[in-house]
Amino acid sequence: MPILKTFLCSVQVRNISLSSLSNKIVPSNLKGKSKSSQEWLERQLNDEYVKKSRYHGYRCRSAFKLLEMDQKFKLLKPGYSVVDCGAAPGSWTQIVVNKLKLDKETEENQKIKGVAIAVDLQHIEPIKGATIIQESDFTQLSVQEKISNLLPSGKANVVLSDMAPRATGTYELDCAAMMTLVYSATKFSFHVLHKDGTFLCKLWDGHEVEKFITILKNYFSLVKRCKPKASRSDSSELYVLAMGFKGWQK
Ligand SMILES: C[S@@+](CC[C@H](N)C(=O)[O-])C[C@H]1O[C@@H](n2cnc3c(N)ncnc32)[C@H](O)[C@@H]1O
Repeated sequence: MPILKTFLCSVQVRNISLSSLSNKIVPSNLKGKSKSSQEWLERQLNDEYVKKSRYHGYRCRSAFKLLEMDQKFKLLKPGYSVVDCGAAPGSWTQIVVNKLKLDKETEENQKIKGVAIAVDLQHIEPIKGATIIQESDFTQLSVQEKISNLLPSGKANVVLSDMAPRATGTYELDCAAMMTLVYSATKFSFHVLHKDGTFLCKLWDGHEVEKFITILKNYFSLVKRCKPKASRSDSSELYVLAMGFKGWQK
């Protein structure tokens, strides 16, 4: 898939402009690509959120998922400390630094003391206003300690997790890998969240979701399922948003 993604980027850069936002793009030079790869590529090239993300300069279409949830629930505010887990290529972090006003050094913004920390297994190109911890496995305690040490007083207002494991194609294995990430992010959020803090986490729909929501309800005053419009309807992806952290007894 990385090769296909690189190829997709070069196709998008050549084809997408303001005027092409409404035109259907038919990819060329697909020789040697499997039928499913061709279909995936055509869908990507004609996806309204892929086009919009290129237009707005976001690194990927996921940006619109966070934008929609932020617009609805006012998750991100100037002065907040925010941890973005599974941040590569960086579109959520782009939104975070913008909402926290860390991306522009105006005189007014310099008085605002927020923190944005982005962590991922993969490389992340620099994002102005964010501290990046790349090529690091979030589930490792040493990585979580590193993040905590960067947070003011070791505390965060918001923990985001858009982490997803590399799919093996075996449903049970992939779901188990996803839940490992989900519970790792959850436990971390219990350690670092300020009282009244927010935790937003991606997972895949299935029998674990209700159990997960029940656990979160013990620790947060509001817990909701979210399926933003930019999350493909044929994907089992969903987000659980937990607001109003009540605290955690170790
Ligand atoms: C859907 S992508 C995130 C997209 C990102 N929110 C954005 O808007 O650019 C999921 C990310 O989770 C990361 N990931 C998966 N397991 C991880 C782990 N154990 N530690 C850190 N990142 C992980 C992957 O490397 C991948 O970049």
